[in-house]
Amino acid sequence: MSEHTVGGPALPQERRLVTSIPGPKSQALQLRKSAAVAAGVGTTLPVYTVAAGGGVIVDVDGNSLIDFGSGIAVTTVGNSAPRVAAAVAEQVQAFTHTCFMITPYDAYVRVAEALNRLTPGTHDKRTVLFNSGAEAVENAVKIARVHTQRQAVVVFDHAYHGRTNLTMAMTAKNMPYKSGFGPFASEVYRAPLSYPYRDAGVDGPAAARRAIDTIEKQVGAGNLAAVVIEPIQGEGGFIVPADGFLPTLVEWCRANGVVFVADEVQTGFARTGEMFACDHEGVVPDLIVTAKGIAGGLPLSAVTGRAEIMDAPHVGGLGGTYGGNPIACAAALAVIETIEEDGLVDRARSIGKTMVERLESFGDPRLGDVRGRGAMVAVELVKAGTTEPDAELTKAVAAAAHQQGLVVLTCGTYGNVLRFLPPLSMPDHLLAEGLDVLEQIFKDL
Ligand SMILES: Cc1ncc(COP(=O)(O)O)c(C=O)c1O
Repeated sequence: MSEHTVGGPALPQERRLVTSIPGPKSQALQLRKSAAVAAGVGTTLPVYTVAAGGGVIVDVDGNSLIDFGSGIAVTTVGNSAPRVAAAVAEQVQAFTHTCFMITPYDAYVRVAEALNRLTPGTHDKRTVLFNSGAEAVENAVKIARVHTQRQAVVVFDHAYHGRTNLTMAMTAKNMPYKSGFGPFASEVYRAPLSYPYRDAGVDGPAAARRAIDTIEKQVGAGNLAAVVIEPIQGEGGFIVPADGFLPTLVEWCRANGVVFVADEVQTGFARTGEMFACDHEGVVPDLIVTAKGIAGGLPLSAVTGRAEIMDAPHVGGLGGTYGGNPIACAAALAVIETIEEDGLVDRARSIGKTMVERLESFGDPRLGDVRGRGAMVAVELVKAGTTEPDAELTKAVAAAAHQQGLVVLTCGTYGNVLRFLPPLSMPDHLLAEGLDVLEQIFKDL
């Protein structure tokens, strides 16, 4: 794919800088933002968007930036992807809302059927739709608690599950996600993860046994409703657990009547070169939580899982005014069609291969670890010759990339991970140009 062939309005697929970044119009808008928007809402890169598609974001000053972020893994099929834009326009004309719990509509049912078909495992499944990732995670916990009649929930070091009260408790990192916002929900316990780069010599099954040991000693299987885990951690630093870690945990959960919940909010929908990250190791979760890439930018999330678990809550116990909004459902159906018709699972693999090969070829000792799966790639930056995290360098690289019209994001418990989540509609020449920009930045810094 050398040109922009899927996704996005017909925007020139080029990096184009006509002002400094941010330009004067963006700067003026940022001043208005500071005066009008609560200070707690941060800004990674204050360029104000007017259009986006393919592999670019165009700002109000006329700059065209290469997008290596996809709005945090959301516009996986591209911004304003043609099928999504058409489906949304058609649905808006028909009706915008009835509330699925009042008078239902078929788009919700079709999304549920599609998720039941696409998610790992061939067992009988049910789905419920919500608005945000955090809301879906909360509901997965509700469902697991009713099903098991137990209360405890185990999450992992470096986890990120959201910003609501329960999901703040489940999220590991204090700043900026938790500090000052307590008290947090109770009955949430944390276990050690498998973190191959910082865990040398501990293989996947051994890391899982270490976690299980913590759970058995500090919680007790008989009290445990659910183990909730990101199969590849997102905000925590794109940490891919060692092979065997997830399967060993699943096996223990099955043996102990614990609901295994995969939080695939960031990893789902072709992002990792499989439809879901669990598919890489044949892991079949009891419940899977999806959001972000599901609807191409429209707010939608879901919990999908074993029928007998999903059907445990009483009628009226699950739902919400907007959950499974018809416009978001129309978008999701178009996203799924785009992934399947345009071969985007394979495209994610080929983007990932290109990125990893190029990043490794930099040969820079400060790139401590290049990792990820498919088009979910990260580099962990360290002081050369050590494994000491280098958050300052990470910040400097990201700032330089932004100045040069390349949108990159950072993450990681230690703030030292650059993460790359290009839309799968990214043309090859822009992917290469973005990597050229990064290589030059590492030479210059
Ligand atoms: C793994 C994971 N879970 C949950 C969430 C929360 O999703 P949302 O921001 O839609 O509430 C995120 C968001 O980044 C995430 O990456």
